[in-house]
Amino acid sequence: MRKPLRKAIFPVGGLGTRFLPATKAMPKEMLPVVDKPLIQYAVEEARAAGIEELIFVTGRGKGAIEDHFDYSYELQETLKERNKDTELALIDNLIPNPGEVAYIRQQEARGLGHAVWCARNLVGNEPFAVLLADDLVQSDIPCLKQMVEIYNEVGGNVVAVMDVPREHTDRYGVLKTGKQSGRLIEALGLVEKPKPVDAPSTLSIIGRYILQPDVFGHLDAQEPGAGGEIQLTDAMARMCGRGRFHGYRFEGTRFDCGDKAGFIQANIAFALRHPSIGAKVRETVLAFAEDLKKK
Ligand code: G1P
Repeated sequence: MRKPLRKAIFPVGGLGTRFLPATKAMPKEMLPVVDKPLIQYAVEEARAAGIEELIFVTGRGKGAIEDHFDYSYELQETLKERNKDTELALIDNLIPNPGEVAYIRQQEARGLGHAVWCARNLVGNEPFAVLLADDLVQSDIPCLKQMVEIYNEVGGNVVAVMDVPREHTDRYGVLKTGKQSGRLIEALGLVEKPKPVDAPSTLSIIGRYILQPDVFGHLDAQEPGAGGEIQLTDAMARMCGRGRFHGYRFEGTRFDCGDKAGFIQANIAFALRHPSIGAKVRETVLAFAEDLKKK
């Protein structure tokens, strides 16, 4: 019997240097796209995929994330007194059930692989998901839910992938591709941030993973890889060929919200679909476009 996917790791210890000065005193995961912080999108996506236990791998200066998913008595009392029921519900819905959320500190930022490894004792011997809040996916069916549906059919390890321009392969984990069937691609190997000339393909990992716990054994070695960091991709590469490992070409649009331009694009895309401000934003974007045409 395949063990069900119940747990998700959210690595949120990163420094957010690409977004300074905004992220000097605020975690990058708290940057809002329209009206929700990035980390909330990731948590909602995990819940929509049936995840029951949330494990945040945090670092110094990330307290705002813990506060975001906790009660805020003063604010809640005030909203109650003012009969602001809608706002109150928005906040109530954020709070995980007791015991369904855990925070663990990554004392040093030593890479994504190290962050995931820090959660090994909380995950134990069962499959788990990893969601990187920087990667925001706009889709009809949430990205991780799509992956869970495929995972329930094929098992093993499944990572979300998309094609990137060849000149960008050095930003991603890249697949050495095997057999393809529809949206599913066998991963024969994986390379972290290869130079465009060395990249085995242009099919690249975006921040959604479903992994088997064996990956922790491969991370135990703590070997630094690309950029001197302990890379999740290197540990996953060691699993290719030993068990099932697939890339899944998800349906939807991915925004790199760790990048300023990607973050702005995400804000526009999500604002356009937002029930209360969508129409207004559309008007503005169209007016900007008209203006730009004239220049
Ligand atoms: C990380 C991973 C990389 C993956 C990327 C997706 O890189 O190491 O394999 O393709 O996320 O966003 P980072 O963006 O943290 O450098």
